[in-house]
Amino acid sequence: MRILNVAGARPNFVKIAPLVREMRRHPAIVPLLVHTGQHYDEVMSGQLFRDLEIPAPDFNLEVGSASHAAQTAEVMRRLEPVLLSTRPDLVLVVGDVNSTLAATLTAVKLGIPVAHVEAGLRSFDRTMPEEINRVLTDAIADLLFVTEESGREHLLREGISADKIHFVGNVMIDALMTFRPHWQNSAVFDRLDLHENQPYAVLTLHRPSNVDDPTNLTKLLDALQDVARHIPIVFPVHPRVRARLGMQEEARVPTRDADALSAGKGIAYLDPLGYLDFIALMSRARLVLTDSGGIQEETTILGVPCLTLRDNTERPATVTWGTNRVIGTDPRRIVEEALRALNHSPRTNGPPPLWDGQAASRIVKVLVERGPRGLIS
Ligand code: UD1
Repeated sequence: MRILNVAGARPNFVKIAPLVREMRRHPAIVPLLVHTGQHYDEVMSGQLFRDLEIPAPDFNLEVGSASHAAQTAEVMRRLEPVLLSTRPDLVLVVGDVNSTLAATLTAVKLGIPVAHVEAGLRSFDRTMPEEINRVLTDAIADLLFVTEESGREHLLREGISADKIHFVGNVMIDALMTFRPHWQNSAVFDRLDLHENQPYAVLTLHRPSNVDDPTNLTKLLDALQDVARHIPIVFPVHPRVRARLGMQEEARVPTRDADALSAGKGIAYLDPLGYLDFIALMSRARLVLTDSGGIQEETTILGVPCLTLRDNTERPATVTWGTNRVIGTDPRRIVEEALRALNHSPRTNGPPPLWDGQAASRIVKVLVERGPRGLIS
């Protein structure tokens, strides 16, 4: 069975890694990998491929950055000839980025079945580009692999038949567990001069709703600066935010890094980190503040308190089972919740069901059992 896997942006690479690894082990499967090029920087792409031991892609579409319409269209235009020449039995897409939707639409129109990994998540906020990508991808995909029970419920409510849906766990957690010995050996602490018991928090921001409007971004950073009077915050800056903060392409601010961490307060602005360094950094943090989706899941398994700076989450299992609290973006609330989190030990109800590092093997088992003929619904 020829399976063409598609990945485009940073969180896609984390999800595709355990899947390709598992497929390569299986004699019945010939995996191919397409990198759409939605993310292309060394730190956003090359470093992740190395950290996660992902083989070099068979095709790189090099679409780069553009408006949503142009980026989506360009993935479709460049993927179509690849699908026509390779004629896979299945296209597998992950997550909710523009590349996910574009690849799904292209394959389905050519009559090639599509499997969507991480299906069914819903924020019910249609101003989020990812929500549109999720709803549309799930509506036309043939096989839907869900990470949590809410995913199955949403899909059934949207009229998708139960035999397309498989609850398999979370491939992002497979990656976290598989690479544990690697990230536990990360040199990031030495590089940042962080000693073993030094308290610090980690911050990530990249959602358009938080960072594209300068007033919102300034308000958020002011609140975080208040939090940083109590604990230093390490902030690897996503390229989307870099320009908005007036930082240059190659911005390195080592003196401010050193200042914040050695002074025990303030925000240390860093370039984006690789996968292993970033997980290592989160694993020893007292607190993580984020607007990312995947980080809510990773902190759940790491047992590190997570405050989600959004009004909603499409990943409710991280709140029910994990360490996540969805607190919105009101500056006063951010400071209150951060101080509360710093003064209380994290509570968890244990890992969410099936977040055990075996999701990729469950997915491959379903694909093999169905066989090429059983893939089209
Ligand atoms: C994308 C995904 C988002 C995901 C995020 C993870 C969509 C709609 N959004 O958002 O769901 O959570 O990736 O990071 O698919 N840029 C670079 N170098 C890169 C990539 C981007 O400098 O390698 C800059 C470009 O200026 C670009 C901007 O970052 O315009 C945003 O990149 P884009 O891929 O459009 O969206 P993200 O915000 O990264």
